[in-house]
Amino acid sequence: MVSDLSTTTLPKLIQGGMGIAISSWKLARAVASRGQLGVVSGTAIDRVIACRLQEGDQDGSIRQAAESFPDQGLAARVLQRWFKPEGLDRPGAYKPVPLFSISPPKSLLELATFASFCEVWLAKHKASGPVGINLLEKIQAPTLPILYGALLAGVDTVLMGAGIPRDIPGLMDQLCQHEPCDLRLTVENGEDVAIPFDPSIVEADLPTLERPKFLAIISSHVLAMSLARSGGVDGFVVEGPIAGGHNAGPRGWKVESGEDPTYGPKDEVNLDRIKALGLPFWLAGGKDASSSIAEAEELGAQGIQVGTAFAFCSESGMEPTLRRRAIAYALAEDLETRTEGRGSPTGYPFKTLNLNGTEGGRDASERERQACNHGYLRTAYQKPDGTIGWRCAAEPEADYARKGGDPADCAGRRCLCNGLLATAGFPHAMKSGGIEYPLVTSGIMRDLPRFLSGKSDYSADDVLDELGIEKSAKPELPIRLTHEVQNGPAYRA
Ligand SMILES: Cc1cc2nc3c(=O)[nH]c(=O)nc-3n(C[C@H](O)[C@H](O)[C@H](O)COP(=O)(O)O)c2cc1C
Repeated sequence: MVSDLSTTTLPKLIQGGMGIAISSWKLARAVASRGQLGVVSGTAIDRVIACRLQEGDQDGSIRQAAESFPDQGLAARVLQRWFKPEGLDRPGAYKPVPLFSISPPKSLLELATFASFCEVWLAKHKASGPVGINLLEKIQAPTLPILYGALLAGVDTVLMGAGIPRDIPGLMDQLCQHEPCDLRLTVENGEDVAIPFDPSIVEADLPTLERPKFLAIISSHVLAMSLARSGGVDGFVVEGPIAGGHNAGPRGWKVESGEDPTYGPKDEVNLDRIKALGLPFWLAGGKDASSSIAEAEELGAQGIQVGTAFAFCSESGMEPTLRRRAIAYALAEDLETRTEGRGSPTGYPFKTLNLNGTEGGRDASERERQACNHGYLRTAYQKPDGTIGWRCAAEPEADYARKGGDPADCAGRRCLCNGLLATAGFPHAMKSGGIEYPLVTSGIMRDLPRFLSGKSDYSADDVLDELGIEKSAKPELPIRLTHEVQNGPAYRA
């Protein structure tokens, strides 16, 4: 059931999904309130919500969203397990959340479903425009419960990059019908295996949900063409190499080279080929000038996706002191973004900011490696006995080697899970003492002074104004109501 997308109802601007928790519900709500597509990050949202609850859910938002969760028994179990009204005993002392695997404990599936429901519900609550959720294809094990929670909250669009999300549209159809389904997990050196998910963990009498739009984030017209052929894709975000976060590698580049990638004309996406597919597309990567929307339209695009400009605004989920410090350094022109070839355990190039006191300000080897405690970027591998194991090139080399990994893979790798959680204000305690350093990813920050226009801080509204989004803009995608509203009870004020 793919809904018809007429270009007259599409937003000009997509606020890029930024993990972990940088595109928080507050940011997505601010953008959606101006009628554009606000996007929350679904990456590690289970841990983010578990951390916020352990910090006492200080603004009460999670408990507010929980009241609208369709299975109140499940919501109560999650709160019982994670909510600590008195907050943390000491900085970084979060209770460990189990790691996702092929058969994760039911309590983790409940947490993930509940968490994405809350984040999307909060972004949509009181906002007049559409809300999307961003997920990375590379992170497979938590995908189905996170998608399902977002669907239950009435998410309008699902956006997915960092991989080839060919199976996702079909899985969305199944989840909308509350059908059990399987996600295909890539296994290094072995056969792919299925990760099952049964939506009946949410015990409620639910109507069939309307299938949200699905936008694939791509950096090559070849991939766009292949995904369009597979079907179920409603449009594309075409991301260029200067975009923040992960990037596709340039042609011919190999992560094993140890070199940071450089991009050339051969890496340019052929927009005519994308246009010929007849699906709407948005351009991403350095598209934050007041002329960017018009320029994108000239090229046949529907509009733009913007990340970095929103990552440092006041509604961003970035830890506030860190965010202010990054702005100050950017104004002093004392910051550089590096596209690290080996930094991310995903194998994709990853942008890091060389801000003092963060991981990007020091060499990857300076962090003492810890046993993998979050596990989102682990890859599945087949053990000699045929069972599935998990390893990450950022865990201690000895652990990686014991699991059959090549220790050479470990060189230069950073622990993105811990670094990005710390950037969102959830630094975890380290075994060796102290807490994890943040790791800031960003695109080009040269335009921040324009959004500040002489002030010391700026908001999402300042960015939207600068990009020429009308203040009176009406929501351009239809807002769908959650099952609760359809069934009677309205959103609580
Ligand atoms: C802090 C940050 C985190 C990001 N995280 C993600 C992510 O989790 N998933 C994703 O698809 N893109 C991610 N991106 C890319 C953005 O969604 C967007 O496409 C990109 O930032 C656009 O380019 P710009 O940064 O030049 O505006 C991230 C970007 C930034 C700046």
